[in-house]
Amino acid sequence: MRMADQRLPGLVAPVPANDSGGLPLFPSPQGLDPGLQDFLEQASQLLCQWLGDSHLHGPRPGLSLQPSAEPSQGGREAAALLTDLQQLMAGGFRPNHPGALAHLDPPPLSVSIAADLIAAGMNNNLLAEELSPSLSRLERGLCAWLAQALGLGPQASGVPASGGSLSNLMALVCARRAAGLQGSLKGVVITAAAAHISLEKALGVMGLPEGALWRLPPDAQGRLQANAVAAALGRCRQQGLPVIAVVATAGTTVQGLVDPLEELAALCGREGVWLHVDGAIGAVCGLVEAQRWRVRGIGAADSVTLNPQKLLGVSKPSSLLLLRNPQHLQDSFGTGLPYMEPAHAGVHGGELGLQGTRGAEVLKLWLSLQHLGLEGIETLLAGAFQRAEGLRHRLAPLPLAVLPGDLHLVSFARQGPDQGWRDACHRQLLQGGFWLSKPALAGQPLLKAVLGNPFTTDQHLDQLAALVQQSCLGAKR
Ligand SMILES: Cc1ncc(COP(=O)(O)O)c(C=O)c1O
Repeated sequence: MRMADQRLPGLVAPVPANDSGGLPLFPSPQGLDPGLQDFLEQASQLLCQWLGDSHLHGPRPGLSLQPSAEPSQGGREAAALLTDLQQLMAGGFRPNHPGALAHLDPPPLSVSIAADLIAAGMNNNLLAEELSPSLSRLERGLCAWLAQALGLGPQASGVPASGGSLSNLMALVCARRAAGLQGSLKGVVITAAAAHISLEKALGVMGLPEGALWRLPPDAQGRLQANAVAAALGRCRQQGLPVIAVVATAGTTVQGLVDPLEELAALCGREGVWLHVDGAIGAVCGLVEAQRWRVRGIGAADSVTLNPQKLLGVSKPSSLLLLRNPQHLQDSFGTGLPYMEPAHAGVHGGELGLQGTRGAEVLKLWLSLQHLGLEGIETLLAGAFQRAEGLRHRLAPLPLAVLPGDLHLVSFARQGPDQGWRDACHRQLLQGGFWLSKPALAGQPLLKAVLGNPFTTDQHLDQLAALVQQSCLGAKR
């Protein structure tokens, strides 16, 4: 590494540059830097090649060579960096492989890849308006649009967060404060057995004792029952226990079930209890007319977690907490930013949530929504639901127990005792180029397919079902 000899007028410090290939350490402010452009083009080519090569590989790589985790003494040159990157990428999960069906991690939307690059280059900070003038305004505008599109009301808005776990935590912090329980270690959160495990984490972080999360037994299909919640609220009253919130789920992690949101919202409204909907998976359905029925009632919630990183395919991380009354965010997390100028367009991003410095996650979400348009969102969602229906249809004649679901997840088990069938079938599927995940529900080993991958065709579903059938036949012998 040497320092380049070009100097900025008025600056004593030389601009650092890499000595071979002309890759600058920092992008020059003095005209387009061909070294930077060349490197970005090569890195883009590497990525495009990697994405395009997915069909040559399985969705899930075996063990691969890893580049060194430690920095070298003198720093590495551009060509060596690209080789290291290539090596690392060879060991990556390939989300755009048509058989990548294991988790809620679809291929990234193309424009969200570009937006991530631009956001990294801009390196603006959503902590405060002065550090991200246009992006802060965009973030405020987009959060308000999303919250209002879900039906949360004319004042509704929210804040991006680095994942659904954090969105859920922030929702419960707001709910506790709104219930007048801030600083209290008392309080109960009522939810379903199938609600996401991030709720345990949230309550732990909030200092609530184990047992503060009441996971109620579900109905026969796995959904939270409004009458069970009503009974639990009654027990809380009898025992003098304050309630922080009821948490419903719009899209459970294993089955993709949507709790009866309308009934739960009516109940919570009558009881004056905060309803949070963990819609990390399914809330996105509330954005478009044709799919809204899947999450009917979501607009009556007090808060909603929505993860565009899941069904929509915005690159990670992309999650939001949206609230009917966003003032709760400021009340819960606003501390004043004494080292920042006042915000002109509303409140600083750092006053609206747990995170301080934040990257411009809003950029990829905005660009993705702009590119898709409402029709594109609708088509994308409809495709995922059609594939899930298609797989259910193909699995129906087989000796399987296919669990009910409301979204694009299909979980199933062998009828009768498993006796190693699930793991054997999983292996066979992997050999055939399909990766499903292996969750368990109430101790029952399951296979789960998430049909959010637009590259999975009917032919792939035929092949997948044929492999499952073979595995069922093999298990009988
Ligand atoms: C229903 C639900 N809520 C919350 C989460 C947590 O989201 P994240 O992994 O982004 O923290 C998940 C993750 O899969 C989920 O399925």
